[in-house]
Amino acid sequence: MNVLVIHGPNLHLLGRRDPGIYGTATLARLNAGIKKHAAALGFKVRAFQSNSEGRIIDLLTANAAWADALVINPAAYTHYSYAIRDAIEALALPAVEVHLSDISRREPFRRVSVIRPVCLAQFKGEGALSYLKALDYCASIKGK
Ligand code: DQA
Repeated sequence: MNVLVIHGPNLHLLGRRDPGIYGTATLARLNAGIKKHAAALGFKVRAFQSNSEGRIIDLLTANAAWADALVINPAAYTHYSYAIRDAIEALALPAVEVHLSDISRREPFRRVSVIRPVCLAQFKGEGALSYLKALDYCASIKGK
């Protein structure tokens, strides 16, 4: 299975961004854990981080033919990007939404995800494990 992993805005700052919420691991370490788990599942991974909504849509478009599934942490775009929502829907990518923190227990604006309706599942609040669970979920839908 080919899995496209997209990290949204400010996730390049992992490690120094609010460690009490997001932990101390860097994005590079997070990606290394994702790739290791994906390899164990026999998956190929392409991982990208972008701070720009348009770039995320371009990445989705450019990789849609290659990808069998999408694991996306849209970061702050989660809460208001109808453009990313529409791109996932238009490309018909089986998508899984991921968050390091538990967005349902934070500020009210974070409790809304406009991305969730176009995703098959959402994993949140477990740090890097949220991503690994998303990969396991991809394995469970393989061939469906
Ligand atoms: C986040 C939660 C979002 O509310 C926030 O804007 C992020 C990260 C998470 O992984 O917990 O940037 O998506």
